[in-house]
This record gives sequence, C-alpha cells and structure tokens, in this order.
Amino acid sequence: MRVYLNGRYMDAEQATVPVTDRGFLFGDGVYDVVRSAGSELIEVDRHLRRITRGLHELRIALGADRIAELRDISQTLLRDNHVEGDAIVYWQVTRGAAPRTHQFPPSGTAPTVYVIASPIALPHALRRRGSSVITVPDVRWSRCDIKSVNLLPNVLAKQQAVDAEADEAIFVRNGVIMEAASSSVFAVLDGELRTHPLTTAILPGITREIVLELASELRLPLREFPILAQDVPRATEMFFTSTVNDIMPIVRVDGRSIGTGRPGPITQQMYTAFAERIGAVVGTH
Ligand code: PDD
Repeated sequence: MRVYLNGRYMDAEQATVPVTDRGFLFGDGVYDVVRSAGSELIEVDRHLRRITRGLHELRIALGADRIAELRDISQTLLRDNHVEGDAIVYWQVTRGAAPRTHQFPPSGTAPTVYVIASPIALPHALRRRGSSVITVPDVRWSRCDIKSVNLLPNVLAKQQAVDAEADEAIFVRNGVIMEAASSSVFAVLDGELRTHPLTTAILPGITREIVLELASELRLPLREFPILAQDVPRATEMFFTSTVNDIMPIVRVDGRSIGTGRPGPITQQMYTAFAERIGAVVGTH
C-alpha cells in the first residue's frame, strides 16, 4: 500500500512522523474522509471546502495550493494502489512537528500532511436489516463543527456502542439529539424529516447536506430542527448518514424499536435517491 506523507509517495510501512508531531502530542490537526467509487472521488469539492474551513478555524497555515493538491494526491493513490471499487480516502493535516509547547510552534513549522486510500466494504447487509444505536451524553467541546482529530469522546462513545452490541452511539445534549459518534442523525416525526440545524455543536456532514438537497428535490416535508430525545419513541423512522455508511436505517434506540422495527419507506426512498446520485457522479447511471 502506497501512501502520501509530506510531499512524497511511499510504502505505508515507511510513513512515520516524529514523536514531536502535534497531532500525536495534542490532537492538533484536522482530517476528512472522502468516498470514491470506480476511482472517482465523490463530492470532493465539498470535502476540500470543509477541510479548508477547519484549517482556517484552527489557524493551521497550509496554503490553498497545497489544499487543492489533496485532490490529485488522492487520485494518484487510488490509481497506484489499483483501488477501483468502493474506497475511502483519508486526509490528515496537523500543525506539524516542534518541541512541545501548548501555544503554536514557531511560524514556518511545516504542517504534516498525510493521505491514504483504502478499499471499503459498504455495510449493505446491515442496511437491509437496520442498525441498533445507543444514546450517550454529549461530553464533547463546543466546536464540533471542526473535523478535528481530537476524537476521544467519539472513540469512547463508539466503544460503548460496541460493548452494548450496537452499531452507533448518538450524542444527546440537554435532551436534544445532536449527531452520532461518526455520523449525522435524522428522524421522521409527525411525517416530517428532521435533523439538527447546523451550529458549532455538530459537524456539517456532507452526506447530511446531500440528503437535505435530495429530500427537498423530492419535495418531502423537511425541517432542520432539534429532535428531542423524549420524542424518539414517537419517531416512525430514523437513520444516520456518513461518508462510509451513506444512509443507514436505525431500527432500535437503547433497545426499543423505532416504527415497525424495520427500515422505513422514507429512509429507503432517500437511500435510492442517494445511490442514484452517487451512481450519476461516477457515471454508472
Ligand atoms: N465521520 N458527524 C461526525 C461526528 C462525524 O465524524 C462524521 C463523519 C459525520 C458525517 O459526515 P460526512 O457525511 O461528511 O461523512 C457526522 C467520518 C466518516 C469519520 O470520522 O471517519
């Protein structure tokens, strides 16, 4: 497996960063995950915009040309590794390696840029069955709009889900469903598709954005409006969305069935529209 690190392509085993890298010491960096199918990157411009914004918010100085290069680097890795089917490309940029100080290192410290492309098996069997999720308190910081590599609460939440034999953990803050450990959350309530509005407390999920666009094209009743945890028993359908899952039905929350306990019609309609949209992007439809 060939990867990219700081301007060079190399075998994955040779890709190492100094122990003084601020990603290692402080989680001081951002990342993004892009889907590809048939060697085509899907919605890459939206991912480039999101990482650009994250870098800007964290004041990590990676030039616009270096950010734009992530597209070509990703395509080179997909090609060189012969990754032709469903795959993800992972980008990570940290503030670089420097003697440990909490404040920023001296200006001129080069950010660390790492890219890897890997095949993925999409969770089609789980999608047919529907997933189980648990709810956990949202103990994260108040800038979850930044896709930071600081993922400790997400790691702990996901492990709690795995320990409970569930597939995902949903963060609840002040009685409101925010998003999940690595995905955005939707519910159908009173016949209306709902998801939390964009604030600094959730990630602006790209799959979420596409689902909202598709739902509006399909003229489904739709509202970016908080979903209260206490309303979950009334939800007729729920699903979560992410680059690696597309649209994943939720059929159980904390052991209680949602709707009929099977993936619902609106979720299926959204998935069909989404798959068509991806197919259209990669030219298979
Ligand atoms: N996670 N919310 C959180 C907290 C996430 O980590 C993610 C994605 C999403 C969905 O965003 P998108 O639709 O742009 O993938 C929402 C990625 C896949 C990850 O951490 O691996």
